[in-house]
Amino acid sequence: MSKRLVAAAALLTLCACATRARGADDYTAFVYAGCSQARYDAGTQYAADVDTALSALTNSAGYTAYANYTSPAAASTGLVALYQCRSDLPAAICGGCVRSAVTKLASLCNSAAGAAVQLRACFVRYGNDSFLGRQDTTVLFKKCGGEGGGDTGVVAMRDAALGALVAAAAPADEGSYRAGAAGYVQAMSQCVGDLGAKACTDCVSAASSQLKAGCGYASAGEVYLGKCYVRFWSNAGTGDNNGGGISGGGGGSIGGGGNGISGGGGGAVGGGNGYAYGFVPHTYGDHDESGKTLAIIIGLVAAVALVIVFLSFVRRAGGVGGKS
Ligand SMILES: *[C@@H]1O[C@H](CO)[C@@H](O)[C@H](O)[C@H]1NC(C)=O
Ligand SMILES: *[C@@H]1O[C@H](CO)[C@@H](O)[C@H](O)[C@H]1NC(C)=O
Repeated sequence: MSKRLVAAAALLTLCACATRARGADDYTAFVYAGCSQARYDAGTQYAADVDTALSALTNSAGYTAYANYTSPAAASTGLVALYQCRSDLPAAICGGCVRSAVTKLASLCNSAAGAAVQLRACFVRYGNDSFLGRQDTTVLFKKCGGEGGGDTGVVAMRDAALGALVAAAAPADEGSYRAGAAGYVQAMSQCVGDLGAKACTDCVSAASSQLKAGCGYASAGEVYLGKCYVRFWSNAGTGDNNGGGISGGGGGSIGGGGNGISGGGGGAVGGGNGYAYGFVPHTYGDHDESGKTLAIIIGLVAAVALVIVFLSFVRRAGGVGGKS
């Protein structure tokens, strides 16, 4: 009997592990990616530079929230690359996120001359289009969600929380993570570290305007511009307090299918000097589903294995003891 309890406890522990693993995955959840039409050939100097750049960045990511790479002038490929992690997170999360992002780039944008990918906690971009140090307020990805439902209270709090981001006197280094809150609405922003404090504020301001103009009464929203992103979410009712309010939402998604790198959805595209990279049509909604499915499959396999072990144990115990 107690053996049976032990087995049941083991099963529960395993399920809890699967759930925790899934939660920890959220920092690497996919948001968007874009790849240039132009491609490089294998074996060229450019290919070598891309490899060098991405591995240099991956190595830095365990130590700093932002770093850039410029290929040596002698190589004359003009390749630059950078990553930006959410600068409020520990370096270990940054390192893991950038590693995932680089893997993602290799699978989604293989051999693309320029590419960018945004995961939940980090952004990685490379290319020969001299984007380093330049402002870029092009809308790359925008989404509104949550329960919405005509709550004007949320709108006022959202605007106040977004206003706090723009007004924040944040440190200019490492991408200037900013947080704001009003009532039960919270907001955060993150710039890419190659922007100075003023340019970061301008970018956050442009992103906030996009959310105000495009998210109606939605209780959560996020917009990713070329050099910064802003998110807001409501903690009311949902018990959601980690900024994940949008993934569950679905409703009211702006330009859901077509929020591309070169256009953005919702008809409110910021003017910009953005890169005309093609859109890689994977939404993080899809990704979340596959992640969930994988976790469920792992859980099921573990459960079946345990049941088999448990049954064979019961049978053996029964054989030895002479009763069952
Ligand atoms: C960037 O690299 C690609 C691939 O090597 C090449 O086709 C393109 O002309 C380059 N662009 C610039 C501005 O050098
Ligand atoms: C690129 O990184 C170097 C340090 O490696 C830093 O001094 C420089 O300011 C960075 N440039 C930009 C535009 O972020």
